[in-house]
Amino acid sequence: MSALLLEAKGLNGWYGKSHILQGVDITIRDGELVALLGRNGAGKTTTMRALTGLLPRIEGSLVFDGRDILGRPTHEIARSGLSLVPEHRGIFGSLTVEENLNLAARSGARWSVANVFEMFPALAGRRKTPGGKLSGGEQQMLSIGRALVTGPKVLLLDEPTEGLAPVIVDRLVELMGELKALGLSMLLVEQSLDVCMAVADRLLIIDGGTIVWEGDGEALAAAADIRDRHLTLENA
Ligand SMILES: Nc1ncnc2c1ncn2[C@@H]1O[C@H](COP(=O)(O)OP(=O)(O)OP(=O)(O)O)[C@@H](O)[C@H]1O
Ligand SMILES: [Mg+2]
Repeated sequence: MSALLLEAKGLNGWYGKSHILQGVDITIRDGELVALLGRNGAGKTTTMRALTGLLPRIEGSLVFDGRDILGRPTHEIARSGLSLVPEHRGIFGSLTVEENLNLAARSGARWSVANVFEMFPALAGRRKTPGGKLSGGEQQMLSIGRALVTGPKVLLLDEPTEGLAPVIVDRLVELMGELKALGLSMLLVEQSLDVCMAVADRLLIIDGGTIVWEGDGEALAAAADIRDRHLTLENA
Protein backbone atom coordinates (compact mmCIF):
# COMPACT_ATOMS: atom_id res chain seq x y z
CA MET A 1 0.00 0.00 0.00
CA SER A 2 1.23 3.50 -0.76
CA ALA A 3 2.41 5.87 1.96
CA LEU A 4 0.05 7.74 4.24
CA LEU A 5 0.10 11.42 3.34
CA LEU A 6 -2.60 12.87 5.55
CA GLU A 7 -3.96 11.46 8.74
CA ALA A 8 -6.56 13.23 10.87
CA LYS A 9 -7.59 11.39 14.01
CA GLY A 10 -10.31 12.44 16.42
CA LEU A 11 -10.40 15.92 14.94
CA ASN A 12 -12.69 18.25 16.88
CA GLY A 13 -13.44 21.76 15.67
CA TRP A 14 -15.32 24.77 16.92
CA TYR A 15 -16.70 28.04 15.61
CA GLY A 16 -16.91 30.08 18.80
CA LYS A 17 -19.00 28.01 21.18
CA SER A 18 -20.41 25.79 18.41
CA HIS A 19 -18.75 22.40 18.53
CA ILE A 20 -19.00 21.41 14.84
CA LEU A 21 -16.46 18.64 14.21
CA GLN A 22 -16.92 15.84 16.70
CA GLY A 23 -14.08 13.43 16.12
CA VAL A 24 -13.35 13.29 12.39
CA ASP A 25 -11.02 10.54 11.15
CA ILE A 26 -9.63 10.87 7.62
CA THR A 27 -6.67 9.26 5.93
CA ILE A 28 -5.37 9.97 2.46
CA ARG A 29 -2.66 7.85 0.91
CA ASP A 30 -0.21 8.93 -1.74
CA GLY A 31 -2.02 9.10 -5.10
CA GLU A 32 -5.47 8.49 -3.66
CA LEU A 33 -8.63 10.43 -4.48
CA VAL A 34 -11.00 10.35 -1.52
CA ALA A 35 -14.50 11.82 -1.77
CA LEU A 36 -16.27 13.37 1.22
CA LEU A 37 -20.05 13.34 1.00
CA GLY A 38 -22.75 14.61 3.30
CA ARG A 39 -25.86 16.74 3.59
CA ASN A 40 -25.87 20.53 3.78
CA GLY A 41 -24.44 21.53 7.15
CA ALA A 42 -22.91 18.09 7.81
CA GLY A 43 -19.43 19.57 8.31
CA LYS A 44 -17.72 19.09 4.94
CA THR A 45 -16.43 22.64 4.53
CA THR A 46 -15.57 22.83 8.22
CA THR A 47 -13.45 19.68 7.79
CA MET A 48 -11.60 21.23 4.84
CA ARG A 49 -11.04 24.39 6.88
CA ALA A 50 -9.80 22.40 9.87
CA LEU A 51 -7.30 20.53 7.69
CA THR A 52 -5.89 23.78 6.32
CA GLY A 53 -5.63 25.75 9.56
CA LEU A 54 -8.65 27.96 8.92
CA LEU A 55 -10.73 27.03 11.99
CA PRO A 56 -10.35 29.19 15.09
CA ARG A 57 -10.11 26.16 17.38
CA ILE A 58 -9.28 22.51 16.70
CA GLU A 59 -8.16 19.56 18.81
CA GLY A 60 -7.11 16.03 17.99
CA SER A 61 -4.30 14.73 15.85
CA LEU A 62 -3.41 16.02 12.41
CA VAL A 63 -0.34 14.77 10.58
CA PHE A 64 0.53 15.73 7.03
CA ASP A 65 3.52 14.32 5.17
CA GLY A 66 5.09 13.15 8.41
CA ARG A 67 4.65 16.49 10.21
CA ASP A 68 2.29 17.49 12.99
CA ILE A 69 0.32 20.40 11.51
CA LEU A 70 -2.35 20.78 14.20
CA GLY A 71 -2.63 24.45 15.08
CA ARG A 72 -0.05 25.52 12.48
CA PRO A 73 -0.84 28.71 10.56
CA THR A 74 -2.60 28.43 7.20
CA HIS A 75 0.26 29.82 5.11
CA GLU A 76 2.66 27.29 6.61
CA ILE A 77 0.26 24.40 5.95
CA ALA A 78 -0.24 25.60 2.37
CA ARG A 79 3.51 25.87 1.87
CA SER A 80 3.97 22.30 3.11
CA GLY A 81 1.73 21.12 0.24
CA LEU A 82 -1.86 20.96 1.50
CA SER A 83 -3.77 23.23 -0.81
CA LEU A 84 -7.44 24.22 -0.62
CA VAL A 85 -9.67 25.09 -3.57
CA PRO A 86 -12.39 26.75 -1.51
CA GLU A 87 -16.14 26.59 -1.90
CA HIS A 88 -17.20 29.63 -4.00
CA ARG A 89 -13.68 29.70 -5.47
CA GLY A 90 -12.23 32.73 -3.68
CA ILE A 91 -10.39 34.24 -6.63
CA PHE A 92 -9.59 37.96 -6.87
CA GLY A 93 -12.31 39.43 -9.07
CA SER A 94 -10.50 42.66 -9.92
CA LEU A 95 -7.21 40.97 -10.79
CA THR A 96 -6.66 39.38 -14.18
CA VAL A 97 -6.41 35.63 -14.69
CA GLU A 98 -2.67 35.93 -15.07
CA GLU A 99 -2.30 38.10 -11.95
CA ASN A 100 -4.36 35.64 -9.89
CA LEU A 101 -2.03 32.83 -10.97
CA ASN A 102 1.21 34.78 -10.61
CA LEU A 103 0.30 35.81 -7.06
CA ALA A 104 -0.12 32.19 -6.01
CA ALA A 105 2.78 30.67 -7.98
CA ARG A 106 5.79 29.28 -6.15
CA SER A 107 9.09 28.50 -7.76
CA GLY A 108 9.87 24.80 -7.76
CA ALA A 109 6.18 23.86 -7.82
CA ARG A 110 5.31 20.93 -10.04
CA TRP A 111 2.86 23.09 -12.02
CA SER A 112 3.85 26.46 -13.45
CA VAL A 113 1.51 29.19 -14.69
CA ALA A 114 2.38 28.05 -18.23
CA ASN A 115 1.34 24.48 -17.34
CA VAL A 116 -2.01 25.77 -16.09
CA PHE A 117 -2.58 27.59 -19.38
CA GLU A 118 -1.78 24.36 -21.24
CA MET A 119 -4.21 22.47 -19.03
CA PHE A 120 -6.96 25.06 -19.48
CA PRO A 121 -6.71 26.59 -22.97
CA ALA A 122 -9.89 28.57 -22.28
CA LEU A 123 -8.06 30.40 -19.48
CA ALA A 124 -5.05 31.07 -21.69
CA GLY A 125 -7.34 32.92 -24.08
CA ARG A 126 -8.54 35.09 -21.22
CA ARG A 127 -5.31 35.78 -19.41
CA LYS A 128 -5.85 39.56 -19.34
CA THR A 129 -9.48 39.26 -18.24
CA PRO A 130 -10.39 40.16 -14.64
CA GLY A 131 -11.33 37.10 -12.57
CA GLY A 132 -14.74 38.61 -11.85
CA LYS A 133 -15.63 38.65 -15.55
CA LEU A 134 -15.08 34.92 -16.08
CA SER A 135 -17.87 32.37 -16.38
CA GLY A 136 -18.49 30.06 -13.43
CA GLY A 137 -16.60 27.22 -15.11
CA GLU A 138 -13.63 29.45 -15.96
CA GLN A 139 -13.54 30.74 -12.38
CA GLN A 140 -13.45 27.17 -11.11
CA MET A 141 -10.58 26.35 -13.47
CA LEU A 142 -8.72 29.45 -12.30
CA SER A 143 -9.30 28.47 -8.69
CA ILE A 144 -7.88 24.98 -9.35
CA GLY A 145 -5.01 26.44 -11.37
CA ARG A 146 -4.18 28.78 -8.54
CA ALA A 147 -3.97 25.87 -6.11
CA LEU A 148 -1.83 23.83 -8.53
CA VAL A 149 0.83 26.53 -8.94
CA THR A 150 1.44 26.48 -5.17
CA GLY A 151 2.83 22.95 -5.64
CA PRO A 152 0.37 20.77 -3.69
CA LYS A 153 0.90 17.19 -2.56
CA VAL A 154 -2.76 16.98 -1.59
CA LEU A 155 -5.43 19.10 -3.24
CA LEU A 156 -8.62 19.73 -1.26
CA LEU A 157 -11.55 20.53 -3.55
CA ASP A 158 -14.72 21.89 -1.93
CA GLU A 159 -17.66 21.31 -4.29
CA PRO A 160 -15.82 22.23 -7.50
CA THR A 161 -18.73 21.25 -9.75
CA GLU A 162 -21.41 23.19 -7.86
CA GLY A 163 -23.66 25.20 -10.15
CA LEU A 164 -21.74 24.35 -13.33
CA ALA A 165 -23.13 23.17 -16.67
CA PRO A 166 -22.90 19.40 -17.34
CA VAL A 167 -20.27 19.86 -20.04
CA ILE A 168 -18.02 21.73 -17.57
CA VAL A 169 -18.67 19.09 -14.90
CA ASP A 170 -17.51 16.45 -17.39
CA ARG A 171 -14.35 18.44 -18.07
CA LEU A 172 -13.62 18.74 -14.34
CA VAL A 173 -14.15 15.00 -13.86
CA GLU A 174 -11.73 14.38 -16.70
CA LEU A 175 -9.25 16.81 -15.15
CA MET A 176 -9.42 15.11 -11.74
CA GLY A 177 -8.66 11.84 -13.52
CA GLU A 178 -5.67 13.46 -15.26
CA LEU A 179 -4.31 14.90 -12.01
CA LYS A 180 -4.77 11.55 -10.30
CA ALA A 181 -2.90 9.82 -13.11
CA LEU A 182 -0.04 12.25 -12.45
CA GLY A 183 0.02 11.02 -8.86
CA LEU A 184 -1.65 13.97 -7.14
CA SER A 185 -3.71 13.05 -4.06
CA MET A 186 -7.08 14.72 -3.60
CA LEU A 187 -9.88 15.10 -1.10
CA LEU A 188 -13.05 16.00 -2.96
CA VAL A 189 -16.25 17.35 -1.42
CA GLU A 190 -18.96 16.61 -3.91
CA GLN A 191 -22.76 16.47 -3.91
CA SER A 192 -23.08 14.31 -6.99
CA LEU A 193 -22.75 10.61 -6.32
CA ASP A 194 -22.17 10.07 -10.04
CA VAL A 195 -19.11 12.31 -9.96
CA CYS A 196 -17.81 10.54 -6.85
CA MET A 197 -18.33 7.15 -8.43
CA ALA A 198 -16.49 8.29 -11.55
CA VAL A 199 -13.34 9.53 -9.84
CA ALA A 200 -12.99 8.41 -6.22
CA ASP A 201 -11.00 5.48 -4.88
CA ARG A 202 -12.79 5.69 -1.57
CA LEU A 203 -15.84 7.52 -0.24
CA LEU A 204 -16.46 8.96 3.22
CA ILE A 205 -19.79 10.19 4.54
CA ILE A 206 -19.89 12.85 7.22
CA ASP A 207 -22.97 13.55 9.33
CA GLY A 208 -23.22 15.69 12.44
CA GLY A 209 -19.49 16.40 12.34
CA THR A 210 -18.46 12.71 12.40
CA ILE A 211 -17.47 10.28 9.66
CA VAL A 212 -20.32 7.78 9.72
CA TRP A 213 -19.50 5.55 6.75
CA GLU A 214 -16.53 4.61 4.59
CA GLY A 215 -16.36 2.39 1.55
CA ASP A 216 -16.08 2.34 -2.22
CA GLY A 217 -18.63 3.45 -4.81
CA GLU A 218 -19.95 -0.03 -5.35
CA ALA A 219 -20.61 -0.51 -1.65
CA LEU A 220 -22.46 2.80 -1.43
CA ALA A 221 -24.50 2.04 -4.55
CA ALA A 222 -25.66 -1.13 -2.80
CA ALA A 223 -26.33 0.56 0.57
CA ALA A 224 -29.70 2.27 0.08
CA ASP A 225 -30.20 2.55 3.86
CA ILE A 226 -26.96 4.50 4.29
CA ARG A 227 -27.87 6.85 1.44
CA ASP A 228 -31.35 7.43 2.90
CA ARG A 229 -30.01 8.06 6.36
CA HIS A 230 -27.05 10.30 5.59
CA LEU A 231 -27.42 11.84 2.14
CA THR A 232 -30.01 14.05 0.45
CA LEU A 233 -31.98 13.13 -2.63
CA GLU A 234 -29.70 15.00 -5.02
CA ASN A 235 -26.76 12.78 -4.13
CA ALA A 236 -28.67 9.65 -3.21
N1 LIG B 1 -18.54 30.60 10.45
C1 LIG B 1 -19.38 29.80 11.13
N2 LIG B 1 -19.77 30.10 12.38
C2 LIG B 1 -20.61 29.30 13.08
N3 LIG B 1 -21.11 28.16 12.60
C3 LIG B 1 -20.77 27.79 11.35
C4 LIG B 1 -19.89 28.59 10.55
N4 LIG B 1 -19.74 27.98 9.35
C5 LIG B 1 -20.48 26.86 9.40
N5 LIG B 1 -21.10 26.75 10.60
C6 LIG B 1 -21.97 25.64 11.01
O1 LIG B 1 -21.21 24.43 10.99
C7 LIG B 1 -21.99 23.34 10.52
C8 LIG B 1 -21.28 22.68 9.37
O2 LIG B 1 -21.19 23.59 8.29
P1 LIG B 1 -20.34 23.31 6.97
O3 LIG B 1 -20.25 24.59 6.24
O4 LIG B 1 -19.10 22.61 7.33
O5 LIG B 1 -21.31 22.29 6.22
P2 LIG B 1 -21.17 21.64 4.78
O6 LIG B 1 -21.22 20.17 5.00
O7 LIG B 1 -20.00 22.19 4.07
O8 LIG B 1 -22.53 22.09 4.09
P3 LIG B 1 -22.87 22.59 2.58
O9 LIG B 1 -23.20 21.35 1.82
O10 LIG B 1 -24.03 23.47 2.78
O11 LIG B 1 -21.66 23.30 2.03
C9 LIG B 1 -23.36 23.92 10.16
O12 LIG B 1 -24.23 23.66 11.23
C10 LIG B 1 -23.09 25.40 10.02
O13 LIG B 1 -24.23 26.14 10.40
MG1 LIG C 1 -19.77 23.34 2.39
